[in-house]
Amino acid sequence: MKKYHCQEITENLLNKEIRLSGWVSKRRDHGGIIFVDLRDYTGIVQLVFNPEDKELFLKAESIRSEFVIEVKGIVSDRLEGTINNDLITGKIEIIVSSLRILNKAETPPLKINDDNVNEDQRLQYRYLDMRSDKMQKTMRFRSKLIQVIRNFFYSKEFVDVETPILTKTTPEGARDYLVPSRVHPKEFFALPQSPQLFKQTLMIGGMDKYFQIAKCFRDEDLRSDRQPEFTQLDVELSFTDEEEIIQLIEELFALIFKDVMNHSDNLNFQRMSFTDALKNYGCDKPDLRNPLILKDIKKLVKEVDFKVFSDHVDNTNSRIVALKVPGGTSLSRKDIDNLTESVKQFGSKGLAYFKCEDISDIENGITSPIKKFLNTTVIKSILDEVTASNGDLIFFSADSMDIVNSSMSALIKELGARLNLLSEGWKFLWILDYPLFEKDGEGKPTSIHHPFTSPMDTSDLKEKNIYDIPSRAYDLILNGNEIGGGSIRIHSKEVQMKIFELLNISAEEMNKKFGFFLDALSFGCPPHGGIAFGVDRLVMLLLGLDSIRDTIAFPKTQSSSCLLTDAPSSVDEKQLSELSINIIKSVK
Ligand code: AMO
Ligand code: AMP
Repeated sequence: MKKYHCQEITENLLNKEIRLSGWVSKRRDHGGIIFVDLRDYTGIVQLVFNPEDKELFLKAESIRSEFVIEVKGIVSDRLEGTINNDLITGKIEIIVSSLRILNKAETPPLKINDDNVNEDQRLQYRYLDMRSDKMQKTMRFRSKLIQVIRNFFYSKEFVDVETPILTKTTPEGARDYLVPSRVHPKEFFALPQSPQLFKQTLMIGGMDKYFQIAKCFRDEDLRSDRQPEFTQLDVELSFTDEEEIIQLIEELFALIFKDVMNHSDNLNFQRMSFTDALKNYGCDKPDLRNPLILKDIKKLVKEVDFKVFSDHVDNTNSRIVALKVPGGTSLSRKDIDNLTESVKQFGSKGLAYFKCEDISDIENGITSPIKKFLNTTVIKSILDEVTASNGDLIFFSADSMDIVNSSMSALIKELGARLNLLSEGWKFLWILDYPLFEKDGEGKPTSIHHPFTSPMDTSDLKEKNIYDIPSRAYDLILNGNEIGGGSIRIHSKEVQMKIFELLNISAEEMNKKFGFFLDALSFGCPPHGGIAFGVDRLVMLLLGLDSIRDTIAFPKTQSSSCLLTDAPSSVDEKQLSELSINIIKSVK
């Protein structure tokens, strides 16, 4: 007798005898008849147990939610009035002739497919959560995505190479996870933050084109789009340039959208320089679905005698911007106060605004807490600069570049969502022309990407101010989220050493951390470049999920622990002493 899956059983199989197995989703007793919703990964089908067969009926009475059962029965029409058009299998039911209870189940601590279960419970009982439609759909989508990615790269003759997990530090900007070595007391492996150095070493090894679906580990503050352990699609090519990599990736996404997303329209990839992104959106991952854009107005308020502006007019490290919000006059005073509070978390000192009720009447038609500081000519020039219309609200921010950029990019995001300003669809954006370095929290130079990124022109290393040296890095943004990033790499030992030097890495440290790699660069390294994508983050975006945790079978919580296995956990003294580790008692 043929074995089916629940969702395969439709009217086409009427009067056929079939075999099915799965979990009991629900059991209902209805005046002498028992109905059971049987679930497997495909969906649900209704089973019917009639009282005539006493032994079978008695067995059916004993089954409970999440029991694992196997049944045989005949596919039958449902009675008029009992048809459920919401289910694919809603027109039929199975009149059961035999039942095997394959396993019993305790009363589950959470209901499968209940959207109100809290996340901690879902993660603790992940195997139950995984039975839900949402998790089944997500895991299968992820698997399909990876299949399409792999086939794409195999078809282009990329070699899939696994790189080590027990390794040395790879600087990607986070803390390392360390693993103590038993064999080498007091020495540690680092888990890879990415396969960066290995993929470059593979190019030196003549592999030509490499890809890997790789696990990466980063000990950093977690957010809804970050996990300590995540998966990258990692790619590297020899004898390449930016244009070839961009074309390759655009082709990959066209295939992903066609084969995984069933999306038939052509994708639109735009390009923008890092400088323009910051100027227009205050961040390097703008969401092009959002029409809000910043306008610099320093030159318009040069003569204004208002401290909030005049403090910044002559400071080259400051910005004064206006942000026009179409239809923004619908925001109440309280809304504006709340937005003002929310930008304060970025260090912003306030959020001045114009409410444009009637722009033809500057005296009465514009209300603003800063109007008394501005004459009509200045107000008019600002309205012209942002091309204001009646109904618009114009926000102002005057502060250091960093504060204006971080607070206004967050404001753009918040207003776009709150006022429903986002257009439909998928907006891909390449950000190009990044500088090589930026200042870290202590005012010291640090790589914007990583220290293996090539400068645009090596002569700039000597001639330009360190923060003005352009790099050959690129990031890919999808709907305001960074999904991937990469660069053309340094392939000369001398240039690599110069970069380390500019990063204040001493010769001794260079040698200790990257000696093997500097050596490798000196034995005929081809020019090369690559890119890496966050697979979990991509799945989250493509499926419109809120959290990266929903895309990973066994994720960590916001505080980096696994509720299913209760990891991390303490280990016994013997293990510690084998590793020559002494726990300091005062540390929890
Ligand atoms: P980068 O550090 O930009 O580049 O990482 C590439 C992509 O990986 C994803 N990502 C993450 N996803 C989930 N949780 C995290 N903690 C996390 N961190 C990063 C992002 C990001 O765009 N070796 C370079 C790539 C290269 O130069 O080829 C690298 O790792 O989507
Ligand atoms: P104050 O003079 O502090 O009362 O501020 C007057 C108006 O300017 C208020 O609406 C503040 O929210 C706003 N404001 C204060 N500081 C800034 C700033 N740095 N950028 C933009 N607006 C500000």
